[in-house]
Amino acid sequence: MIHILGISGSLRQGSFNTAVLRAAQGLVGAEVKLEIATLHGIPLYDADLESQQGLPQAVTELKARIYASDGVLLATPEYNNGIPGVFKNAIDWLSRPPEDIAKVFGQRPYAVLGASPGNFGTILSQGAWLPVLRTLRAPLWSTGRLLIPRAGSIFDESGQLIDETVRKNLGNFVQGFAAHIADVKKR
Ligand SMILES: Cc1cc2nc3c(=O)[nH]c(=O)nc-3n(C[C@H](O)[C@H](O)[C@H](O)COP(=O)(O)O)c2cc1C
Repeated sequence: MIHILGISGSLRQGSFNTAVLRAAQGLVGAEVKLEIATLHGIPLYDADLESQQGLPQAVTELKARIYASDGVLLATPEYNNGIPGVFKNAIDWLSRPPEDIAKVFGQRPYAVLGASPGNFGTILSQGAWLPVLRTLRAPLWSTGRLLIPRAGSIFDESGQLIDETVRKNLGNFVQGFAAHIADVKKR
């Protein structure tokens, strides 16, 4: 069994990115489990808070979920052509203390996808993740690429994915990522 942790970079209850992860849960295939994490409860990074109290509980819990996974899928929104602060803030916390970076980021494949209501489907925020993930030495799976534009019209009112093209592309993406993780685990 392959365990993928999908992290949604949006706190919004009706988030398209969280909804994409939910839809992906039904498309990963029988031997794969995709769990979803959100960033609720993670405070703004503050080095004073860190030195006085250590890592916040929500960060410790997210780290534990990453350690328990075989691969991490980041579902990123795009704000002002970049990474939303909420998501970057969480990754900054996850990179503390620096001795843990290799364990959090270096020991399992990472992948990025994203959805936005505009026409470009998070192309710029996905690009903005590249130097961040390179800095953290995360082994990014970049064979698959998934930009989901016009996200406002691909779900029905209950949040079900109703666009067949997106469903097919999303299925190919997550199955490709899972196959890559399986290959890495065999090595
Ligand atoms: C501050 C802000 C900036 C935004 N900038 C962009 C942008 O640069 N490109 C884009 O495609 N959408 C942009 N949007 C729209 C988001 O893609 C949209 O709010 C989307 O629903 C966020 O993802 P979510 O549905 O997962 O919460 C922006 C939204 C906000 C609130």
